Parts: sequence; C-alpha cells; structure tokens
Amino acid sequence: MRADNISEHLDVQIRWLIRRDMPQVLDIEQTSFEQSWTEEDFLCSLRQRHCIGMVVELNEEIIGFMIYELHKVSLRVLNFAVAEPYRRHGIGIQMIQKLIDKLSQQRRSEIDLTVRETNLSAQLFYQSQGFKAVNVLRGHYPDTDEDAYLLRYQLLDVPDWLPFEGVRNRLTAYKDAA
Ligand SMILES: CC(C)(COP(=O)(O)OP(=O)(O)OC[C@H]1O[C@@H](n2cnc3c(N)ncnc32)[C@H](O)[C@@H]1OP(=O)(O)O)[C@@H](O)C(=O)NCCC(=O)NCCS
Repeated sequence: MRADNISEHLDVQIRWLIRRDMPQVLDIEQTSFEQSWTEEDFLCSLRQRHCIGMVVELNEEIIGFMIYELHKVSLRVLNFAVAEPYRRHGIGIQMIQKLIDKLSQQRRSEIDLTVRETNLSAQLFYQSQGFKAVNVLRGHYPDTDEDAYLLRYQLLDVPDWLPFEGVRNRLTAYKDAA
C-alpha cells in the first residue's frame, strides 16, 4: 500500500519486536539517521532485561519501531523512527501514546529521551506530544560533538523548573519566525 493512499490515522498493529523484524527495522534505521545503529547495537540493547523493542506493523510491513528502557520511575526512549513514507500520518503519536498508557499501568511517571540539537522535526514532534526540554547536554554525541536536549514527558502535574520555551534553540527560532 502506498503511503499517499492511506487514511489520516492508520489502523496499525503495535507489538513487541521479534528477531525476524530486524531487517526491516534496520532498513528504517539506516534511512532515518546519518549515524545509525548497527544490528549489533540493537541486539546488544535488546539483550538487557530492562530493554524493550516495539514495532508498528501495517499489512505485514514494519513501518516504525521504538527501543526503550524500563527504569524505576521512568521509561527512557533510546531509539525511535517511523519509515519515511509513513510519516505525518499519526504513527508516531500512536507509539508515544502506547508508552504514555504504560506509565500509569506500571506506576511510572515520566518518559525521558535525548534528541539532537539539529533534529528540529523530532523536536516539533515531541513538543506536540507534551514533552518539555529539561536540560541541554553539551557535546553529548561523540560523532559530531553535537549538543542534545534532554526531553521529558511528565504524567503528573509537576512544576516545570525549566520550561521548553526557556531554552533558546532551533525550535524557538522556528517559532519566532512563524
Ligand atoms: C519523529 C518521528 C518519529 C515522528 O513520527 P510521525 O509518525 O511522522 O509523527 P506524527 O505523524 O505522529 O506527528 C504528530 C505531530 O508531530 C508534529 N510533527 C511531526 N513531524 C513534524 C515535522 N517534520 N515538522 C513539524 N511538525 C512535525 C506535528 O504536529 C504532527 O501533527 P500533524 O501532522 O497533524 O501536523 C518521525 O519524524 C521520524 O521517524 N523521524 C526520523 C527519526 C527521528 O528523528 N527519530 C527521533 C529521534 S529522537
């Protein structure tokens, strides 16, 4: 099915990642990131007991994935991408919503992740889902020495000690220009 012929919100199945999904997951990974994870990176993460892989399937095709870790009070997203032709159809929202649903079921209260300073589209996505920037990690990515924003989704109504708008970044410039 072509992505431009599909309805606004796709009727997809979200399930655990299994070994035979790896070729399609790697394909999405390599077309999504310049510095992409290798198969060994995925397997190494997924061997950890507290690490979980999730995929989105549409008509037996994998069109997105997420790797996340379970921590005491939080879930930490390590890797997350939607296949390029299927972006802007609400797939990312469905995956993040799945995580948000797990928070209260599992007595956890927040979702953490880092995003590259140059990855404006992901920042806009996370902002649309209620994530806030809580810290800037200078030179976080050794490959490019790029900064990272530590983004957090908080389930409870906890005070924002550093609101998203408080951080001057590409997103603020984008919003200023709009
Ligand atoms: C970030 C990503 C996972 C979002 O997935 P997606 O399925 O395209 O997101 P959705 O369709 O659910 O988008 C939800 C909302 O987020 C915002 N958004 C998403 N992508 C956006 C973009 N490129 N520009 C501006 N806003 C965007 C919009 O508000 C969008 O709603 P709208 O389409 O009704 O305007 C996807 O863009 C992706 O895989 N990017 C490459 C990999 C990556 O950067 N992963 C994150 C690493 S931290």
